Amino acid sequence: MPFETAVVQAQPAGYETPLLAVALPRGNLPASLESVDKAAGGALNRVLASGDFTGKKDETAVIYPSGPASRVLLVGLGKPDEVDRGAIRRAASVAAKRARSLGVPRAAFYLPPEARGKVSPAEAGQAIAEGLNQGAWQYNELKKPNEDKKPTLERFDLLAHDGPAEVIRGHKVGEAIGAGQTFARGLQVLPSNVCTPSYVANAARDLAQRHGFEVTILDKAGIQKEKMGALLAVAQGSVEEPRFIALEYKGAGGPPIVLIGKGVTFDTGGISIKPAPKMDEMKFDMCGAGSVLGAMLAVGELQPKVNVVAVIPACENMPGGRATRPGDIVTSMSGQTVEVINTDAEGRLILCDAITYAKRFKPRCIIDIATLTGACVIALGHVYSGLFCNDEALAKALLEAADRSLDLAWRLPVHEEYGESLRSNFADFANSGTRDGGASVGANFLSRFVDGFSWAHLDIAGVAWRANANKGATGRPVPLLVDYLLNLDGQ
Ligand code: BES
Ligand code: MN
Ligand code: ZN
Repeated sequence: MPFETAVVQAQPAGYETPLLAVALPRGNLPASLESVDKAAGGALNRVLASGDFTGKKDETAVIYPSGPASRVLLVGLGKPDEVDRGAIRRAASVAAKRARSLGVPRAAFYLPPEARGKVSPAEAGQAIAEGLNQGAWQYNELKKPNEDKKPTLERFDLLAHDGPAEVIRGHKVGEAIGAGQTFARGLQVLPSNVCTPSYVANAARDLAQRHGFEVTILDKAGIQKEKMGALLAVAQGSVEEPRFIALEYKGAGGPPIVLIGKGVTFDTGGISIKPAPKMDEMKFDMCGAGSVLGAMLAVGELQPKVNVVAVIPACENMPGGRATRPGDIVTSMSGQTVEVINTDAEGRLILCDAITYAKRFKPRCIIDIATLTGACVIALGHVYSGLFCNDEALAKALLEAADRSLDLAWRLPVHEEYGESLRSNFADFANSGTRDGGASVGANFLSRFVDGFSWAHLDIAGVAWRANANKGATGRPVPLLVDYLLNLDGQ
């Protein structure tokens, strides 16, 4: 089910649509909506007067006027002086969710110019496109079709009569980010019996062909030839073969940004097996890989003047007769040996070989994205990604991108003392140490492979998916990554 949004230069009052969503802050009806109210026989003002809808954040009301729009959906924006990009994105997301559940095939979104606050038309266009895509997203391919045969939402028009050229410019970026996030989420929610390492590789190859990226996919023999002993050690417990994936986008001269995404398609923990509760969520352990592919999709659409390489080590972490045992010593691609104290600290093992591989591109920087540690979830919850970085300028650029894209990240330390517990009597170092400060211990492990390159690690264990009733992937940090890359354009 494809979903897209498009800017349409039109006034909301005369617009024919099954559903017109209107974002409203608290207070009186903005002047630009008087004509919509008139076309609806005064129903908007009546709803406001009744107090059933006040414009609170996330509040909605549906009206059925006899006008060109068969439904008008009011969506609250919150207090007028607090309307920012986040509030607008949220309202668009709420509107798309509601439109989906109402079962309309298409809809239109209107943000009254008076309600925009300090947000520019371009920023609003971007926020709306992102929000509509986020809210419209739904995965039900593996469920039986809906009995009520309601149509699925395929299109949202963004009505703009005010600064349409700027709205279109912002919308293009938001739509690309939204499409990248949708692609990432589609891959991330797949169960591990569908989304295997070779499935990820095929998805990456399709993406590369659509966007003209150069593509390299190594199978097990190819991975052995590269001497990626750490990746192989994780993969060997599974009957699913690993894949190593590299996509190259060339938008300029100069060294590339390498994005590495952790692609563990299922993490049982291996012989150091995880407890049963919530283990199903470990299908999301390839969210880093999914987000890197989603970011590449947006890069392919927007064609920024930068070079980007996506690198994905993909495998499954399973117990089995051939699985790596605690205490086994493996030789990483870098030549450094690692004592595998805990087979559940597998992410760092596959990432360390990917970092070593990335160095052949002589990159401007390496950014890895991984659901790496439960400790990061304890530290930051489900709000901020953990950012670890050995380069002040890169850290600053990523934190700024996080703020701009509303895809939050918080810096945590990588200091070398966090590596003390990784000491091993038998190998160069161990793959796991103290639980205390576990997110920094993991980052410290990775830092031993970066060899002077500028490097950042995003631990997305807390933000990549949601548990419980809203279980599903978020597509984070696609917005952060794309914002960062777009801002390098021309630099
Ligand atoms: N994929 C997990 C991290 C994870 C756990 C993410 C829970 C989200 C929720 C990772 O491979 C892992 O198991 N990490 C261990 C490392 C430890 C053994 C050093 C952890 O965090 O417990
Ligand atoms: Mn693990
Ligand atoms: Zn894992």
